[in-house]
Amino acid sequence: MLRNSMTLAIAAVLAAPALAQTAQQVEVLHWWTSGGEAAALKVLKSNLEKDGVGWKDSPIAGGGGEQAMTALRARVSAGIPPTAVQMLGFDIHDWAKDGRLANLNDLAAKEGWDTSVPPALQKFSKFNGKWVSVPVNIHSTNWVWANKEVLAKAGVTAEPKTWDEFIAAAEKVQAAGFVAIAHGGQPWQEATVFDGVVLATGGTDFYRKAFVDLDSAALGSATMDKVFQRMSQLRKLVDKDFSGRDWNVASGMVISGKAGFQIMGDWAKGEFVNAKKVPGKDFLCFRVPGSQGTVSFNSDQFAMFLVKGADKVAAQQKLAAAIMDKGFQSAFNVVKGSVPARTDVSDKDFDDCGKRGIKDLAEAAKKNTLVGSIAHGHAVPASIKNAFYDVITRHFNGQIDDKKAVAGMVAAAKQ
Ligand code: GAL
Repeated sequence: MLRNSMTLAIAAVLAAPALAQTAQQVEVLHWWTSGGEAAALKVLKSNLEKDGVGWKDSPIAGGGGEQAMTALRARVSAGIPPTAVQMLGFDIHDWAKDGRLANLNDLAAKEGWDTSVPPALQKFSKFNGKWVSVPVNIHSTNWVWANKEVLAKAGVTAEPKTWDEFIAAAEKVQAAGFVAIAHGGQPWQEATVFDGVVLATGGTDFYRKAFVDLDSAALGSATMDKVFQRMSQLRKLVDKDFSGRDWNVASGMVISGKAGFQIMGDWAKGEFVNAKKVPGKDFLCFRVPGSQGTVSFNSDQFAMFLVKGADKVAAQQKLAAAIMDKGFQSAFNVVKGSVPARTDVSDKDFDDCGKRGIKDLAEAAKKNTLVGSIAHGHAVPASIKNAFYDVITRHFNGQIDDKKAVAGMVAAAKQ
């Protein structure tokens, strides 16, 4: 016993210099708790540790980040904000407006972020001309993930190119005894599916009119009615246990061969990669049929909160620089399933789906068919986004019909 406690005491003394070396520390609040997400975050954590900065992890589970945002509000009200917080789109501006975020302009100027970060992201990273947040990736939501073997067993021989082909393929998968569409019944997941359905049904002009301009005529149109009819078609293709299921559990159903398809952002690819699955061989990635050529994006950023003390500020600056590092942007996004938040990172280390994602994004930016995700806070601020979630989810759960859902969207936009 005594011997044991002496060993512990000696170990503590020996460990002291190591602790001193990592006196600088960052606390990072995030919602990356799935296997693929955690693997990606580890890249950042270990890069920082190599740089002498300790990592205090504050994970708040819940895809899409709603729970994380609730936890953040409590931390800020208690006067103890974390160093950095994973954040999406308009939420960043809400905190910046409130005067809670740091000014990173000196670092941004030194590192040339104005030229390396695409304008669509800078719109959210900056507030009143100040860099307040650092983008780590670009995800996009209008993707479908498919199990190749399941499709073959169900007799689906070609990638569906149109909405009708997709529904026909999913019906075949269902008839063959598999779950056609792996889905997690949580509002943000239904809204993620909705992003792709809107693009496939109305294209980017309609998407912008309805969900960026919040035009009542577009929101109440026959096109919106068709969007909800299509959501109703999908509802028939999910299994009976979908309610409340986490998104990564749904990805797992496709990975394990229980289900044929999942409509989900490319963070789902992080789960496939984490399970050592190979695109083209084990699984397929393609755009929601009908939405090819368009991209609904979201970018995870780390909003930097105002911290006090030279050590804390220095650690925060190191974190920001580490996130923007070109090598990191490649290594992290290869694992996460997303694409780099800088335009000057090579695609050479990315798999086929990643290469396709990078190409799609560049083309959509050029053709002006790149739109912010409704579901992930890049089209409208949180208050309206949440009101949309509510309508989309009530409709998906059969509480309101297509017509009532259309009227609900018009009303939700007036929140
Ligand atoms: C998104 C986020 C992604 C992914 C997903 C599920 O909002 O941008 O990085 O983590 O939630 O958790």
